[in-house]
Amino acid sequence: MRRLFVAGNWKMNKTIAEAEVLVQEMLPRVDAFANVDKAVCPPYTALPAVAACCKNTGLKVGTQNLYWEESGAYTGEIAPKMVAEICDYAIVGHSERREYFAETDETVNKRLKAALAAGLHVIVCVGETLEENEAGQTEAVVTRQLTQGLAGISEAQAADITIAYEPVWAIGTGRAATPEDANDVHKDVIRPLLAKQFGEKRAQAMRIQYGGSIKPDNAAELFSMSDIDGGLVGGASLTADSFVSIIEAASMVAIVMAETES
Ligand code: PGA
Repeated sequence: MRRLFVAGNWKMNKTIAEAEVLVQEMLPRVDAFANVDKAVCPPYTALPAVAACCKNTGLKVGTQNLYWEESGAYTGEIAPKMVAEICDYAIVGHSERREYFAETDETVNKRLKAALAAGLHVIVCVGETLEENEAGQTEAVVTRQLTQGLAGISEAQAADITIAYEPVWAIGTGRAATPEDANDVHKDVIRPLLAKQFGEKRAQAMRIQYGGSIKPDNAAELFSMSDIDGGLVGGASLTADSFVSIIEAASMVAIVMAETES
């Protein structure tokens, strides 16, 4: 059975002081749900403070991005080892990076390799735009993003990768994909691609998160699907109440799944 994994992507929100307040509010409440893997990804400036608060707790910390070079004249960029000093996780290839900052499948692949080499666990985001969805191109787009994004990655490295399927039209819109539609992409497109590259055993063990307008009231239904192994949460990770409720929903689903399996 795959452990559910819920990560909060705070995007460009929270000063250091605000981030500390938020994480301190979350910590005593989320730590109770030991059957769920959980992480928060604050902006760079708040990473050290949030990581210090989360030390020796079950709440892990991740960066929202990183650059692939080790050091040098790359003004404004952050090297993998700089973030690996502070946190355990990294998000790469988020659709906002692709849309606003010219991220491509090739640069996603470079960031992924550099992050893995630095010892980070990486959440690789994929997902089609509304236009692509309406044109029936979801499978083709996700296949291209995954094939190129994971190019050259070995089965052993895949142990440190989580995939996040985030249909772009569902992000920040309040319009989540239906659990069935999202699960179809996870089960019939993403997992078979992972199996082709890494073998069936590894593919079955890898987590595929859903992302896009996850809220406390739709989380349990999404996480109950066979191939939705948690979520990447944006807006609803910015308040303790909603993020804790989503983790609680994951924990309840995990209990039911464990009972069904035994
Ligand atoms: P949202 O964002 O939950 O606000 O839709 C999800 C994401 O971008 O990861």
